[in-house]
Amino acid sequence: MQDRRQFLKSAALGAACLAAPEAALKRLKAQTAEARIEILLEEPIGRIAPEIYGHFVEHLGGVVYDGVWVGEKSKVPNTGGLRTELVEALRKVRPGAIRWPGGCFADQYDWKDGIGPREKRPRRTSFWAQAQEWTKTMHRGGAQTYEPNEFGAIEFARFCKLTGAQPYFAANVRSLPALEFARWVEYCNAPAGSVSLAEQRAADGERDPLNVRYWGVGNESWGCGGNFLAEDYASEFRRYTAWLPSYGDRLALIGSGPSSDNLEWTRRFFKKAAEGGVLGGMWGWGLHHYSWNASGGRTSDWVKGKRDALRFDAEQYYEILREASQLESLIDAHWGVMGECDPKHAVKLVVDEWGAWYAGGSEPFPEALLGQQNSMADAVLAGLSLDIFNRHAEKVAMANIAQLVNCLQSLFFAHEDRFCLTPTYHVFDMYAAHQGAQSVRTVFTAPAVRYTRNEKPATLAGLAGSASRSGKQLTLTVTNPSLDQAREAEIAIRGATAQSARATTLAASDVHAHNSFDAPREVEPKTEALNLRGGLVVHRFPPASATKLEIALG
Ligand code: AHR
Repeated sequence: MQDRRQFLKSAALGAACLAAPEAALKRLKAQTAEARIEILLEEPIGRIAPEIYGHFVEHLGGVVYDGVWVGEKSKVPNTGGLRTELVEALRKVRPGAIRWPGGCFADQYDWKDGIGPREKRPRRTSFWAQAQEWTKTMHRGGAQTYEPNEFGAIEFARFCKLTGAQPYFAANVRSLPALEFARWVEYCNAPAGSVSLAEQRAADGERDPLNVRYWGVGNESWGCGGNFLAEDYASEFRRYTAWLPSYGDRLALIGSGPSSDNLEWTRRFFKKAAEGGVLGGMWGWGLHHYSWNASGGRTSDWVKGKRDALRFDAEQYYEILREASQLESLIDAHWGVMGECDPKHAVKLVVDEWGAWYAGGSEPFPEALLGQQNSMADAVLAGLSLDIFNRHAEKVAMANIAQLVNCLQSLFFAHEDRFCLTPTYHVFDMYAAHQGAQSVRTVFTAPAVRYTRNEKPATLAGLAGSASRSGKQLTLTVTNPSLDQAREAEIAIRGATAQSARATTLAASDVHAHNSFDAPREVEPKTEALNLRGGLVVHRFPPASATKLEIALG
């Protein structure tokens, strides 16, 4: 079968060589590019935690106020103050977990400001009021600068309940004492009627415990979370978490891990934590990795060095994807270092901030600090990253894209009564099929993408993806990063036979394509049934695309 198809392809190419002009020949070559995907059902990796499909909501710019929270008196349709359109769209993609209230904001936040009657809550200066990312054309002031605390623990817990997500709180380690952490846990989780804070919770509208299981112990403790040394943070971690009350299930405590490739932060924390007996009480270790390329890698200025969200050339496009694909080696490297002190790997990785981070200028509205447009390129980046997490399902217990709405690589834009889904949203929708399924080893063979990086040749994997199985349902997701080459791939399933298949593809004729309030449906996925060829699934992955194949197994 394979020989015959090879022959037909060669024959077609040969005929084209004789008759077709060069452009047509190039097109034909592009259409017949060779790729192969082998799915090894007998080689399970681990269960894909639904929490890998997690999100991040920080009190920053237009994320909480205007994005998630519009208030009960708003004309914008809302459910107890929460933007209904967003709640419904988010529920559809089954968010595993949502991290809140920050980010850097978390280490300046007093949880008590966000409880009690809303009209009596204090207004505070937001952590982000002074951020250097505010540009002259943006509007400061309002909730983005002076935090009104209308949205607190109860409002967040209700948001999680409505969307079906697990709440993941980040506690303040930089500027609140350890006792406050214990008190916040008590407020959230103590049984109804048991203690004063449970009474307070009932007065705030929630009689029953909120059952918050995931707790981050600070955020970026090497930076905005206190500028700690790794050893000092390990001691603080122990002080803040030893003897914490837990009601029912043990709390899942998550340490503030490294930024990208800071292996020393991981090594030094784990060494000290192991000595202090901290690791036994830890559930997860946070890893933050943003993809930003400083104008093609030529400058490292924090704010000015980043590129535009929509104006980018081929080099900048491939470079952002290369930076995202580093997640794979970062996961392996930190996992290896963690194993030096935790050989049984009781502590898992939590990639609780990831995504693309661009320069200012494409905010969806002027209050949206760190808001940026989201193109088809970002959809490829999202698919590529989620596939990496799936492929490391035994190591990665949670991941949270930054951030949910109006900020960095968001799933939504929402402002006043306007709302739209970004291409990244569609990837989360497509990839949700992996949640809870068994990740299986998958081997991709495809010609590499070749491009120029700083005037030197560089390459990127031609096709990448992940596969998972749930009963008779096999899900394969694939990204094709190439800007101009479609890849036709044979998909071989070892250990079962395909009975039927369908493909959902997210692609656009221009990788810069994006959705906006005025044109919300420029980038949308399309689904089609596939013909099987003698038990093989053969599919053509368009350039710069993310695809989901749903394969029914015999
Ligand atoms: O996501 C924006 C910021 O990036 C977060 O507040 C911080 O943790 C990180 O540096």
